[in-house]
Amino acid sequence: MLSSVSQMQNLPVKAKPVNHLITLADLTKEQIHRLLISAAQHKYNVKCEDKPSTKPLDGKSVAMIFSKRSTRTRVASETATAYLGGHAMFLGSQDIQMGVNESLLDTAVVVSSMVNGIMARVGAHEEILELAKYSTVPVVNALTDKYHPTQILADLLTLHEVYANDQGDNLDASYRAHLVHPEETLPGLKVAWVGDANNILHSMMVALPKLGIHLSIATPSKYHPDEDVLEIAKKEAAKSNTKLSFTSSPLEAIREADVIVTDTWVSMGQESEKAQRLEEFAGYQITIDMINKGKPNENWKFLHCLPRKPEEVDDEVFYSKNSLVFEEAENRKWTILAVFEALFAKGEFES
Ligand code: CP
Ligand code: NVA
Repeated sequence: MLSSVSQMQNLPVKAKPVNHLITLADLTKEQIHRLLISAAQHKYNVKCEDKPSTKPLDGKSVAMIFSKRSTRTRVASETATAYLGGHAMFLGSQDIQMGVNESLLDTAVVVSSMVNGIMARVGAHEEILELAKYSTVPVVNALTDKYHPTQILADLLTLHEVYANDQGDNLDASYRAHLVHPEETLPGLKVAWVGDANNILHSMMVALPKLGIHLSIATPSKYHPDEDVLEIAKKEAAKSNTKLSFTSSPLEAIREADVIVTDTWVSMGQESEKAQRLEEFAGYQITIDMINKGKPNENWKFLHCLPRKPEEVDDEVFYSKNSLVFEEAENRKWTILAVFEALFAKGEFES
């Protein structure tokens, strides 16, 4: 039996390193800014100018390997690929051999030999690392148990739009956002996380301090972010001189926050822990009462990656005028579009 890569002599040789988007920890602040600016520009072109696409993915295909459910990421990826002139091929776990009759390695080699990019939603983070290792085309992480990078790009675009629009004129958010640099809107914001130490929090931890955003995190004391993520976040916070704080008190976390964020307490794959988790997250539901007591900034905003369950946030907050959840969901499209154009069409993010 073959046991090491050196014995696998028939694997394709990559002419040059392939660039992937596995975690925002791998991107510089400037690269993240570029993606946000590009996303805002595309949104403006389409929604305000009705400008036709230049179709940079004309004749190209994107494989979407999804071993978990998805609404937003799937719709965003398929519509973004169509806009860019390419063809998105959805390969769900019931469709392809991967994981049942075929290894990740063989799947990565075979699929990447026929497409121009892979968008992959898998289980363990190691799975996407394996896919990326053997893929000869760029792989974008569409969610693993550790990171969900394209979600946080959408969150950042949503905040950028709101604070770009907060500068004293009547133009609508998507109109102004492409005119303003994210350096003018994002640094100095305080984001408060109340909930599980999951893939969304991890992704925020590696990205927000890098962009000059303060992050205060409340999780029940049993739930901690991964050590390696914590190390990255601490280094970025030290570099940008931003505050990164941890508590088990939601009220403490949201004090003076500009933005309050949560996510499900039971991520995909954790269904068997549901009863225990609901018990352990008691007191973490975001309610108007919690917000009144916690005293965030007067114009606090609420974000949630969705899908949302009522236990983590009540209707009064979720459907309030402060809630940006549906803008955030739509922005999955514009940010994924920017990522696909950068990686699949232009081959950007040279390492
Ligand atoms: N936020 C998000 O990734 O949603 P989906 O699981 O529906 O793609
Ligand atoms: N933490 C959630 C995010 C869903 C978009 C999960 O992994 O299920």
